[in-house]
Amino acid sequence: MNKKRVKFLLAIETSCDETAAAVASTDGQILSNVVSSSVKLHSKYGGVIPEIACRFHVEYISSVINKAITDSGISLEKIQQICVTNGPGLVGALLVGVQTAKAIAYSRRIGILPINHLRAHLHAAFIENNDLKYPFVGLVISGGHTSLVYVEGFGKYKLLGQTRDDAVGEAFDKVAKILGLAYPGGPAIEKLANNGLSNAFRFPQVLLEKDSLDFSLSGIKTAVLYTVKPPKSSEEEYLENIKNQTLVNNICASFQDAVFKTVIHKALFACEKFKTKRLVIGGGVSANGYFRKCLTERANQKSTKVFYPSKKYCVDNAAMVALYGVDFYRRYGIKYGYNFKVNPNLGF
Ligand code: KG4
Ligand code: ZN
Repeated sequence: MNKKRVKFLLAIETSCDETAAAVASTDGQILSNVVSSSVKLHSKYGGVIPEIACRFHVEYISSVINKAITDSGISLEKIQQICVTNGPGLVGALLVGVQTAKAIAYSRRIGILPINHLRAHLHAAFIENNDLKYPFVGLVISGGHTSLVYVEGFGKYKLLGQTRDDAVGEAFDKVAKILGLAYPGGPAIEKLANNGLSNAFRFPQVLLEKDSLDFSLSGIKTAVLYTVKPPKSSEEEYLENIKNQTLVNNICASFQDAVFKTVIHKALFACEKFKTKRLVIGGGVSANGYFRKCLTERANQKSTKVFYPSKKYCVDNAAMVALYGVDFYRRYGIKYGYNFKVNPNLGF
């Protein structure tokens, strides 16, 4: 690309419990990526408390943006486009990012582009995989979403299936709560699972109707609950069970194995159905090492290539938002217009 035409973008992400900002150049380089998380504040509640997340965003958004600008070595004067997540997510949390982005864009008279958080999660795989091309099947597994999509080209998404109840990350967080582990449940379960047996329990692998690409994870969560707290058992028995480290390790290993078997089966089935050998993964749960190992093995057997973001780009971050903005800019140039809203229920 002609160096003179290189421009700089600032991205802001505040859809859940991470306050994040990043700077990228329009030749696709991520120049800075800053994430400040309120995760520790939610830990004792077993899930994200929206009010706490929003207050954290309000308190930290300015310093996170300032750090992203400083780390990038680019002054704010050089930024020509702001990209901001406008959904899906927690409404109050999204509003903090969007209003901040609008204020900066308006005061500096620069462009502003709203970006879909789910699309950004899938776009994260482009940051480090230069050989990734369209079309592909995409799988987003996060705390709020489990979605399979066919991505025909930039901005062309066809939803193939999604969860009918809990998202994969949500199931990890709820099972962690049942087992007395802190939020977020995913990393805690993965760690304990390393010392457990994946075949200790046969938890249900729900495939739903023949050829369905939808997911259902509430059954497995209940199965875990009944394992540590059988119907009619006492509170003491339950507390005794969750203190039994071998039992808990085995439950964690068997639970994640059952969940991932279902997810992997559906994702590879979607690739077969849509005749593509490219599978792109995104979202916080895709940071799980056991998932990546199992999926790579199964995909290799089917000569399908899996594209993962590195772990720091799996969980919520603004670099993925920035790169989506870069690819938008390359196609359509700078986007102006403040007349957009947050949409907590935005789909693909
Ligand atoms: O993408 P993300 O940061 O936020 C949302 O958009 O939801 O995903 C957060 C989710 C949480 O449910 C967390 O438990 C899960 O990702 N997660 C994991 C792992 N790391 C984070 N789940 C399984 N294994 C992990 N290593
Ligand atoms: Zn996310």
